[in-house]
Amino acid sequence: MTRPRKQVILGAYLGGVNHHTAWWDPEAGSQIDFSTFEHTARTAERGRFDFFFLAEGLALRERAGRVFDQDIVGRPDTLPVLASLAAVTTHLGLAGTINATFNEPYELARQLASLDHLSGGRAAWNVVTSFDAFTGQNFRRGGFLPRSQRYERAAEIIDTIRTLWDSWDDADIAADPATGRFLTRGDAGAFSSKGNQFDVHGRFTVPRSPQGRPVILQAGVSPEGRDFAASRSDAIFSPYGALPEAAEFYRDVKARAVRFGRRPEDIKILPSASFVLGDTEAEAEELYREIRSQQVNGKTALILLEQIWNRDLSAYDPEGPLPDIDPDSEAPPFIQGRALVHQDRFATVAAWREIAEAKKLTLRELVADRFEHGSFVGTPQQVADRIDSFVQNDGSDGLIVGSHLVPSGLDGFVDKVVPLLQERGSLRADYTGTTLRDNLGLPGLSRNPNRERDDPAAAAG
Ligand SMILES: Cc1cc2nc3c(=O)[nH]c(=O)nc-3n(C[C@H](O)[C@H](O)[C@H](O)COP(=O)(O)O)c2cc1C
Repeated sequence: MTRPRKQVILGAYLGGVNHHTAWWDPEAGSQIDFSTFEHTARTAERGRFDFFFLAEGLALRERAGRVFDQDIVGRPDTLPVLASLAAVTTHLGLAGTINATFNEPYELARQLASLDHLSGGRAAWNVVTSFDAFTGQNFRRGGFLPRSQRYERAAEIIDTIRTLWDSWDDADIAADPATGRFLTRGDAGAFSSKGNQFDVHGRFTVPRSPQGRPVILQAGVSPEGRDFAASRSDAIFSPYGALPEAAEFYRDVKARAVRFGRRPEDIKILPSASFVLGDTEAEAEELYREIRSQQVNGKTALILLEQIWNRDLSAYDPEGPLPDIDPDSEAPPFIQGRALVHQDRFATVAAWREIAEAKKLTLRELVADRFEHGSFVGTPQQVADRIDSFVQNDGSDGLIVGSHLVPSGLDGFVDKVVPLLQERGSLRADYTGTTLRDNLGLPGLSRNPNRERDDPAAAAG
């Protein structure tokens, strides 16, 4: 039996605090102006994307104690941006990356349920746990939770927030012709939640939102992160945009979801990916090389490498070989505020030396190669073919697509690649659902969880 064609889920990633954004390009716009967010969101909606996506950086990055000039620095807070975008879009989901380590459940539950109301059911939360005490110092003395407790806190915060969201039933508010509205249940909004991290009880102030529960994404790839996503999230934002790692990750997370009693399709795997288009393949390849050498110039390459080596490498030639000294695992962090996905410095350095040797790469070329997580490069037809086959062959359920150029980077994708995906039936011609949850094909939720729990028979009727 042939499997039905999967619909490619698309998220639009607006680049933020990282080296992917070519902010020095003369065509690059502001990273802060509302017009940048608005243009990207409207373009994504024109391309029938499922959602707009913002990453989050809670600290300015530092090198040896000073802010450095190779990244975007500074940007507005996610939730007000998404709330503003709700007013200029109609169907597009609005996904914000928000930290689970530094926030309180009551305030986050209120903010996300409010965004869900204001947008008519389009809110999504990408849960991150953060990576360093340096960032945490902005929030509290000592800065951090031990690594082992970050996912415990993340799991508890989600469970608590869900308790808050579920504290209201749809039927708690009824229309009354005379007064407009009235409450039908005296204990509407009542909640109580106790665990190792939180002990809260009271009444939640926001009535049940259109999605009931805003969509939950997660980003983080350790075994703890995968289990957290497999047990609690609707989607996972992964760094694996290329085979074979992508397919392995896909299988692993879906299998974990099944172990948690869920169906494989209940969790969507969405890697980050970028694209470069050309009229011919050769032109696209040339453009890709140009963009890549801008994104990872010599200075950026050294900074990215300093994060792994944890020492000053400024004396090394980016066009020469990798540094011949060992990393320093004892010294305080040389680069602060950037997620370190390579936990074992010595193993990473050993592996990278082998790759550089085998592929005959300079220091800069090696960094460009290792920090590349999935680019679709070619003519629009080739890019559409490759994206579709990546998804149909279970590399993922879709992509969170970013571009090196803000805010116009997505235009070419929407004008040229989207129609080809639609032609082959892999992308909807128009939105089919009213909420983000519907559009993503996620399971529906009870509208009256309390009534259902107290009286299943009555609730079903
Ligand atoms: C694809 C991806 C995107 C991420 N985006 C962010 C982000 O925008 N902001 C942030 O603070 N952390 C971000 N993180 C960091 C994670 O929240 C997490 O702290 C880090 O990956 C360590 O967790 P892990 O050991 O489970 O991977 C991201 C991680 C991944 C893998």
